[in-house]
Amino acid sequence: MKQKYSFLSDRILIVLIVLVLSLVGLVTTLIYALNAKEELHELSFDWSIDDPLKEDLYVVAYSNVFAQDENGVGTQYNCILVNSSKYGVSDWFITVKTHEDYRIDNSWNGTWTHGVDKLMFVPDTSNHFVEKGQKESFGLVLYSETAFDMTEITLNFKAVRSVWSYPLFDIFYVVSIICIVVITIAFVIKLRIAKYAKTHAAYKDLVSESLRTIANIIDTKDEYTKGHSVRVAIYSRMIAERMGMSDYDQERIYYIGLLHDIGKVGVPVSILTKPGRLSDEEFEIIKKHPSMGASIMKDFSSIPGVTNGIKYHHERYDGKGYNEHLSGEDIPLEGRIICVADSYDAMSSKRCYRNSLSYDFILDELKRNAGTQFDPNILKHMVAIVEGGYAPISDAEMEDYEI
Ligand SMILES: [Fe+2]
Repeated sequence: MKQKYSFLSDRILIVLIVLVLSLVGLVTTLIYALNAKEELHELSFDWSIDDPLKEDLYVVAYSNVFAQDENGVGTQYNCILVNSSKYGVSDWFITVKTHEDYRIDNSWNGTWTHGVDKLMFVPDTSNHFVEKGQKESFGLVLYSETAFDMTEITLNFKAVRSVWSYPLFDIFYVVSIICIVVITIAFVIKLRIAKYAKTHAAYKDLVSESLRTIANIIDTKDEYTKGHSVRVAIYSRMIAERMGMSDYDQERIYYIGLLHDIGKVGVPVSILTKPGRLSDEEFEIIKKHPSMGASIMKDFSSIPGVTNGIKYHHERYDGKGYNEHLSGEDIPLEGRIICVADSYDAMSSKRCYRNSLSYDFILDELKRNAGTQFDPNILKHMVAIVEGGYAPISDAEMEDYEI
């Protein structure tokens, strides 16, 4: 039975679908954010120079009268645009209402122009964008007849919203990262499992092929029982599967089936291949093969129950079997299963002393011995296997059989 390992398990497939949807959402939100129309905003301040509005976004200015003579008053204005808002400020400019005649003497970080009653400042190109949390300095020096304060200042700007300020973008981003991490971890685990499975499969093949080789050695003693142990193993496993036994127990029963007649290595070939009726003495020797097999396998602990299957596969349900005359469910389960499979194969195979028996005869014989030779609860599965056409198996099926 080969197991297939696929990276795309159902759960990973779901995570992958979520990742794709999140990435689509991420890109869609990004495109929307980049194409979002930037609206022109206008903030008006009516502040005195020494008392700026304490908002997230504001302009603060400090004036310094440095000259006062017959030419007029010289004043330097140092201004700072403070952006503590969550948006970037783009394409900004400032207008200031003035009432006096004045002359601009000097300016920095931008250009001041004057109209009828307004001063307008436009920053240099390199300063036209102020990121959130940043400041921008600018200012001018002007002369007027009298000193005056700037009033009715207006800041015009476009608020630029960062893509990170869109909650949906944040959600898609976090979900995508989580999905990528989950898929990466799953991929690494799957790789390790696949590597382990490969090693495990190699060992399993080694065990299976070794035991099958032993089974072939056993069956080689008698030309007529060629393939018998392998077929009994396969039928036993079919029964175990129909009984609802676990995969592990099905494999265990299969291996026990392969070895069930290992005690025959201690029985002379002349007895095993004798065409006629066996003498009482010869039959007594034959009857020892279950206990001899159990003795051979007594140190083989890798397959639990292996000695039970070997030692008790010739016990009968009514207690008239051999070697210990156990009955009913006192006979270990492995022995009861092997007994049914063994008897079926013995009847359906050609032997040195007779040809194989007919389909109807075998079925009648099996059913007739339910509760006497065979455990009826196990026999019913063998009968179903035969009636379902799953037995007997051909030599080709037997050769191709994989566990
Ligand atoms: Fe046997």
